[in-house]
Amino acid sequence: MTTMFFEQISSGGCKSYVIGCKETCQAIIVDPESSQIDRYLAIAAREGLRIQYLLDTHTHADHFSASHELRERLAVPVIMHRNSPAPFVDIRVDDGETIVVGKLRLQILYTPGHTEDSICIRLPDRVLTGDTLLVGGTGRTDLPGGDAAKLYDSLFNKLLKLPPEFLVFPAHDYKDQTHSTLAREIAENPRLQKKSREEFIELMHALNLKMPTHLTEALRTNRSGGKSIAQLIAAAAGKIAFMSIEELRQSVSRHDRQLIILDVREQEAFRQGHIPGAINIPRGQLELRINELLPDPTQRILAYCDYGKISTLAAATLRELGYGRAIALDGGFQSWRETGGMQQ
Ligand SMILES: [Fe+2]
Repeated sequence: MTTMFFEQISSGGCKSYVIGCKETCQAIIVDPESSQIDRYLAIAAREGLRIQYLLDTHTHADHFSASHELRERLAVPVIMHRNSPAPFVDIRVDDGETIVVGKLRLQILYTPGHTEDSICIRLPDRVLTGDTLLVGGTGRTDLPGGDAAKLYDSLFNKLLKLPPEFLVFPAHDYKDQTHSTLAREIAENPRLQKKSREEFIELMHALNLKMPTHLTEALRTNRSGGKSIAQLIAAAAGKIAFMSIEELRQSVSRHDRQLIILDVREQEAFRQGHIPGAINIPRGQLELRINELLPDPTQRILAYCDYGKISTLAAATLRELGYGRAIALDGGFQSWRETGGMQQ
């Protein structure tokens, strides 16, 4: 055990793990979350570890997995259960199989119930329980692929049969608890007190939980490897520079002719009011009308929209088209107006 590096990373209610072998410097990230990518890389660098594998304990429905993006960046394989619908999974695993990370052995336990592709990871003194078993709870079984009867079997006939002193590290916790033990969960976890299969299923069916906020988007991206809207905008923001509202205010008041102000909102919104001097090309028509309306690629062009997101995408598109000085407003027409900006 002395050879194991183990760090839990919390982000919102999500728990992810960097687990490494100190002897060989190899490591795996379990349930990487998209907002923490730089943190994982920083931890690995700090500890002198090289990430060899990425693993998702199941198809997450409530947050965005970073597996696909890290796979592209690090050129390392993604591990998931063979039932995972994601096309980018490189190593599909099954119950009882072992992942070798340097001198460490991670054993896969197939534990369906929360989803059809849920797995837990067994280490010598602990188990990563994914959303199968949480501290004081269990994963829900009412989302796509959920099955309360299967969760019962996964818990009572498999996971809870591991040694009771085993540490429990879940994929979620909303109360800042880091971990537990199987013994403590068996004694105190309210969901584990219903010992008969029927009672457990009844309990799970009666929960009536609220749908997760990003359900559709999380399932779309985690199943396909596609980007979330926030990731798409963040990627575009990484390719451009921004102008502050104050800077724009000064530019407008000195009638700066060098700056083309480009309103990318719909025509109707433009007609109702816009920043003085702006021209209007709705985002959807940008590529169609750009040659006619903006013939000079060396001009400085500032894109704006209502909230600053669509204009970020528009400015990144302009840069790709060769407008090397395209920028976006840091903010949007709404904040321009709220801070007393002039309108035409
Ligand atoms: Fe989950």
